[in-house]
Amino acid sequence: MRVLGLETSCDETGVAIYDSDNGSLSHALYSQRVHAQYGGVVPELASRDHVLKTLPLIKTVLSESRLKARDIHGIAYTAGPGLIGALLVGASIGRSLAYALNVPAVAVHHMEGHLLAPMLEEHPPALPFIALLVSGGHTQLVRVDGVGSYEMLGESVDDAAGEALDKTAKLLGLGFPGGARLAELAMSGRTDRFRFPRPMTDRPGLDFSFSGLKTYAINTLKEAGDQPGTRADIARAFMDAVIDTLAIKCRRAIQQTGLRTLVAAGGVSANHELRVRLDKVAKEMGAMVYYPRLEFCTDNGAMIAYAGYRRLAAGMSEPLAFGAQPRWPMESLRPITE
Ligand code: KG4
Ligand code: ZN
Repeated sequence: MRVLGLETSCDETGVAIYDSDNGSLSHALYSQRVHAQYGGVVPELASRDHVLKTLPLIKTVLSESRLKARDIHGIAYTAGPGLIGALLVGASIGRSLAYALNVPAVAVHHMEGHLLAPMLEEHPPALPFIALLVSGGHTQLVRVDGVGSYEMLGESVDDAAGEALDKTAKLLGLGFPGGARLAELAMSGRTDRFRFPRPMTDRPGLDFSFSGLKTYAINTLKEAGDQPGTRADIARAFMDAVIDTLAIKCRRAIQQTGLRTLVAAGGVSANHELRVRLDKVAKEMGAMVYYPRLEFCTDNGAMIAYAGYRRLAAGMSEPLAFGAQPRWPMESLRPITE
């Protein structure tokens, strides 16, 4: 079965084709640049850019895969969570194209896409596993017993880790979205100058809170003064706090569930230092960690095509009416029984 996947939930237009016999055949991505000047994603501009980019990217992946539209057996589109206008662009293009081609269409949950992304690798994780989802919109620890069988173990009570990274990067003058640049600046920072708290690690539980770290960074910059090297030292202290906190909670989740397989996915899981740290935790706990390849950590169409394939293969699809859900609890998804 070949599935076309469309991702338009935020500021990336991602399109891909997944083939159940040959894996991911082709994927194309357009990262919207228009938002940088505003220091954050402007929803209306995001929707307009998706309108411009989705069809050309569909043509690109078809030609790269040497396929015609009639060679597609199903279409998967991200239906939430995300920006409503942006979601509706992918949903309406996906549903209409499926209608025109007389193939089924399926609505995909964006975070299910992220957590299934490591399944596209040569050595996929075996179920059940714990998923650490760390993106710009979410920080969650999820127990995954099957595709669609999700139990929320913990999540951020305020900012997501990626959101805190981006906001702190902005205040350090690194532009938007600056998470990866902040991580890079931290590489040249001193580890012994500032120490930021590890939020919510002093009490039991698997929830996170990252918004206080951003305030900590602002206050530290004010107090220390903007001397050469200070911004890098703040970036270092910030990254250490985020990585330490994520690692502590992953260790706890492994202890609490008894599961020995951890998946880390979402944009922040592209971070090299986080990976090194999680590998270390896993080794100490006799566990294994699985990651998507770097390009499938951040938003992409391949993860949506794959998640859609799993649902279509289980006989699920949408009626002709379609919609999108800006807020969509992952635990409400229909499990796939295989
Ligand atoms: O999964 P994603 O592409 O979008 C959402 O679903 O939100 O995640 C984007 C987030 C942004 O906050 C970005 O700054 C962060 O992932 N990010 C990184 C890195 N690459 C992307 N954070 C740390 N290190 C990176 N290398
Ligand atoms: Zn995402």
